[in-house]
Amino acid sequence: MVPLLRSCRRLIPHLSAAAAVAAPSSSCARPISRSLRLLPVVLAMAAYSSGSGAERRRLLFRQLFEKESSTYTYLLADVGDPEKPAVLIDPVDRTVDRDLNLIKELGLKLVYAMNTHVHADHVTGTGLIKTKLPGVKSVIAKSSKAKADHFIEHGDKIYFGNLFLEVRSTPGHTAGCVTYVTGDGDDQPSPRMAFTGDALLIRACGRTDFQGGSSDELYESVHSQIFTLPKDTLLYPGHDYKGFTVSTVEEEVAYNARLTKDKETFKTIMDNLNLAYPKMIDVAVPANLVCGIQDPPPSSV
Ligand SMILES: [Fe+2]
Repeated sequence: MVPLLRSCRRLIPHLSAAAAVAAPSSSCARPISRSLRLLPVVLAMAAYSSGSGAERRRLLFRQLFEKESSTYTYLLADVGDPEKPAVLIDPVDRTVDRDLNLIKELGLKLVYAMNTHVHADHVTGTGLIKTKLPGVKSVIAKSSKAKADHFIEHGDKIYFGNLFLEVRSTPGHTAGCVTYVTGDGDDQPSPRMAFTGDALLIRACGRTDFQGGSSDELYESVHSQIFTLPKDTLLYPGHDYKGFTVSTVEEEVAYNARLTKDKETFKTIMDNLNLAYPKMIDVAVPANLVCGIQDPPPSSV
């Protein structure tokens, strides 16, 4: 599955889409985003007419909140594409109906339900979404060791229409954490946007004492993969507990209470957080290792 996602790295997406259309259709691994783009090239290109403003208009973006776990879910869609293909990042089981109603109202076609990592504080909505919209494919990092339709790795690009998310491996909160970053091409939204999961929170970061976490690794991940993005990159975390919604690389490099410190100080901070055992972990992690997919009840088998 991964090579097919990687094959999305391309400079001329229209040609690649044509090639994908011409290929045999038997492989379930082909990204849905490519098969969705059986569209008139002229129509798709018309939206690119005037620089970054046009690309910004292509992107429909919504930040959604689940209050029990203070989790953010992100909806992105390419509305410059007639099919309006969309992705959901970190959906929560409790808010699946809200999210799917919004997607329906906006006339979007959800193609991927993606997770940044195996969550310990809530059950992912991806399994439930797949039961309600069978065409949707789940996506998670191969290194998470969780179940999904597509396994991604560092450097992969996940296309929805002509827009894409780049995968950056950012372990440390868990061993399988990734950050999804909007593309860096002239035909992609500007400024870039990074969906950091729990690797980087606004002025904070995720804990590192469970699920293969490592403060040493998290420090390296954030400094090498997130703080190196352009200063104006918008940072969207997996959670916020104080009401913040978005930050930037420039802000976090300057003001993050933990990650502005040197590595040894950071590790000492993380070793002394004295956080309570996560109350949902024993329910959430086993469920999320199978992407929240629940076995159908016996009556429906
Ligand atoms: Fe987490």
